[in-house]
Amino acid sequence: LKILMAASECVPFAKEGGLADVVGVLPKHLARLGHDVRVVMPRYYKVDPEKYGLKQLPGVLTVPMGIIGEQYCGVWEGRLPGSDVPVYFLEHEGYYGRDGLYEVDNVGFLDNDNRFIFLSRAAMELPKMIGFAPDIVHAHDWHTAAVPLLLNTLYVNDPRFARAASVLTVHNMQHQGNFYEGAMDVLGVGWEHFTFLGLEKDGEVNLLKGGIYHATVLNTVSEGYAREMQTPEYGWGLDGVVRERAADLTGILNGVDYDDWNPETDPFIAATYSAADLTGKKLCKRDLQRAFGLPERDDVPLFGLVSRLVKQKGIDVLAAAIPRILALDVQVVMLGAGEPWAHFYFGDIRNAYPTKFNCFIGYNNPLAHKIEAGADFFLMPSAFEPCGLNQMYSLRYGTLPVVRATGGLDDSVENFDEARLTGTGFKFWRLDAGALFDTVGWAVHTWYHRRDAVARLIANAMAARFTWEDAAAKYEELYRRALRRRFGTKG
Ligand code: ADP
Ligand code: GLC
Repeated sequence: LKILMAASECVPFAKEGGLADVVGVLPKHLARLGHDVRVVMPRYYKVDPEKYGLKQLPGVLTVPMGIIGEQYCGVWEGRLPGSDVPVYFLEHEGYYGRDGLYEVDNVGFLDNDNRFIFLSRAAMELPKMIGFAPDIVHAHDWHTAAVPLLLNTLYVNDPRFARAASVLTVHNMQHQGNFYEGAMDVLGVGWEHFTFLGLEKDGEVNLLKGGIYHATVLNTVSEGYAREMQTPEYGWGLDGVVRERAADLTGILNGVDYDDWNPETDPFIAATYSAADLTGKKLCKRDLQRAFGLPERDDVPLFGLVSRLVKQKGIDVLAAAIPRILALDVQVVMLGAGEPWAHFYFGDIRNAYPTKFNCFIGYNNPLAHKIEAGADFFLMPSAFEPCGLNQMYSLRYGTLPVVRATGGLDDSVENFDEARLTGTGFKFWRLDAGALFDTVGWAVHTWYHRRDAVARLIANAMAARFTWEDAAAKYEELYRRALRRRFGTKG
């Protein structure tokens, strides 16, 4: 199949979260299955053409932007590292020539509607320039959710898309791309789409809503979240729209890039180790305690956390529980950045508990690896988690996840069963400090008093696999389903 994938993030070029991990690795696996995949994304200011050996394509792309008028952009071509998958970068100084992908200092850019309508529209214009006629246009999240809408409207008679169906992958229901209704005039699809059964939501343009209505098929990144996003608790006001599309919705759990996340080969950790020989993990624990300036003790359970510090991740619940947690004989290390209150709050916690807690505010990939390897337990008390990657990394490193049983966390972690000695981690259900504390307490108790059980859990965790081979095969199936849905028997 010929697949055009449009997204706002892609590893290694630009990343805010797991979306980038997915867009950076899924195309490679699709290519291995024999598909012709092309990725299109912005050339953000920080994507250095020299560093990635990008080449400028001849000519310019003309992108109609409704009332704003035609915009012109240059296109750079690169490759996803370690593959032949082409990545096309849109050069537009006005939209992307600045720091930050979506915001700077927690303030969203005021022209994000134009910036991402541009991305979606340019993605639809790009095939002309590169001589490509896709079978599938694959959009991710609100940033490119206009793509399915454009396919059904302005491009419905375009011969380049005559054989194309669309797929929208929802990685997060909270962020929907809602904007002032004037964005309709930039989209240029006609005001008849600004209705309750179209893009309108509470008087605003809602790009994700439009994508959910218009995509030939939809998916999200776990089966659990595919169910949850149809409920008011998790639907962020769009659950009704998702329910209308339930017949075309599936859940596909993300994979892990085990070339990057493997304790047997990881270059960032103090000592490598395997399930058969965990000696190296002890050294990693020491190294982690040193890195965070905590007492170097083997005889204390060490909890790690790597996360965007936002409510989605249950950071407020952790904030409420942390004094009680730190009253136990434990250590906690934390890496992340996000809401300013969290930076201050956890900074104060560090000052109050200098021998038990430390946090590093910022983004640091090597340190994330050290935490995965050196901690005994990994905390993910998420309020919602469409998939979540860190719990899957943790399993591979024998670092037992303590998770709220939601979305991909519930699907990828198996709760400890004390009687049967099965499971890969510790789960709780209620989103509150008490439930988190109790479950941390359960993990701590198990660590101190049931070494046999902990050893079993570690072995189980390290044996679990979530591969991109499996996930890519499911996306292939989804693409074929989209084609059947749009064209009947084809595919
Ligand atoms: P989300 O996309 O909602 O943030 P995921 O679990 O899917 O959650 O992906 C988060 C990704 O970002 C993981 O690869 C994780 O290691 C990484 N990450 C998040 N915060 C940091 C940080 N402060 N430093 C390094 N890596 C981080
Ligand atoms: C989103 C979700 C996260 C998921 C990631 C990749 O950022 O919050 O749970 O793992 O997308 O699909």
